[in-house]
Amino acid sequence: MLNKELKNTSVNLSGVILDNPVIPASGTFGYGQEFARLYDLNILGSISFKGTTLEPRFGNPQPRIAECPGGLINSVGLQNPGLEKVISEELPALGRIYKKPLIANISGFSIDEYVKCAEAMDRQKQVGIIEVNVSCPNVHNGGMAYGVDPKSAAEVTNAVRKATKKPLYIKLSPNVTDITEIAKACESAGADGLSLINTMLGMRIDIKSRSPVIANKMGGLSGPAIFPIAVRMVYQVAKAVKLPIIGMGGISSAKDVIEMMMAGATATQVGAANLVNPMICRDIIEELPVLMDKLKINRLEEIIGIVQ
Ligand SMILES: Cc1cc2nc3c(=O)[nH]c(=O)nc-3n(C[C@H](O)[C@H](O)[C@H](O)COP(=O)(O)O)c2cc1C
Repeated sequence: MLNKELKNTSVNLSGVILDNPVIPASGTFGYGQEFARLYDLNILGSISFKGTTLEPRFGNPQPRIAECPGGLINSVGLQNPGLEKVISEELPALGRIYKKPLIANISGFSIDEYVKCAEAMDRQKQVGIIEVNVSCPNVHNGGMAYGVDPKSAAEVTNAVRKATKKPLYIKLSPNVTDITEIAKACESAGADGLSLINTMLGMRIDIKSRSPVIANKMGGLSGPAIFPIAVRMVYQVAKAVKLPIIGMGGISSAKDVIEMMMAGATATQVGAANLVNPMICRDIIEELPVLMDKLKINRLEEIIGIVQ
């Protein structure tokens, strides 16, 4: 019989030790409350909470979800209650049910907004890592605009770096020709780590009405359809920089977690799969030691970036 205790699933993200590498991805897990009714969130490696902006946002007009084979396109547009309410209400509520360090996902429409969000998150004891989203494809003049150009990505990194002493992870966009250029720019500007990938810009058309399915026309594709692209990009970035990587994009099984780590990820996030099966993170965490046993892996950290 498998002794799960003998399998070491812990990983180290810039000094923040996670019991396992399974983290719900920002935007697919809210601030944890709904999922806490289904299982004890404390089994999770960490939680990357919903992208938080300085001001409250109602998001983009409906419809903003289009189902696709192997995934979905979303154009939620960073709907969130705003920095003040997140800090005064959401984080205390989450702190009552989740006792491990959190990943604070922040976004902005100007460098000043990113800085203000980072400064505020820096003061929150529960926040272990700050994850800066420079890759949201669903808002204009913000988000992805900073993540598709090495100079702008470096500018945001540099400014936010000065605003926090906590580990700083920059979340990269796959909607670029060469993701390693952006990764290297963030590394030079002082990032402690990188999260990748955000969603891929996509579009669906309703052939009866002859119009886009999504009100905003385009949105971000995520889910199993993008997994091979995410693995490829994590692999490329892992070879190009020395920073730890949180790998994501289409992960929906323990096998996917292992594959992403072999490509070079130190930890992983699970996004769209939470919307299909809200128990998926728990299932993956339970399956990991069983799969490690089959693959003769004793310590998960030994496989990070093992593929040459
Ligand atoms: C509905 C939805 C909302 C999202 N909102 C955010 C967000 O607020 N901030 C962010 O950095 N990423 C956001 N993402 C991107 C995910 O965190 C993740 O990077 C992406 O979906 C790829 O992973 P997946 O294929 O497992 O979903 C969102 C994704 C979805 C599906």
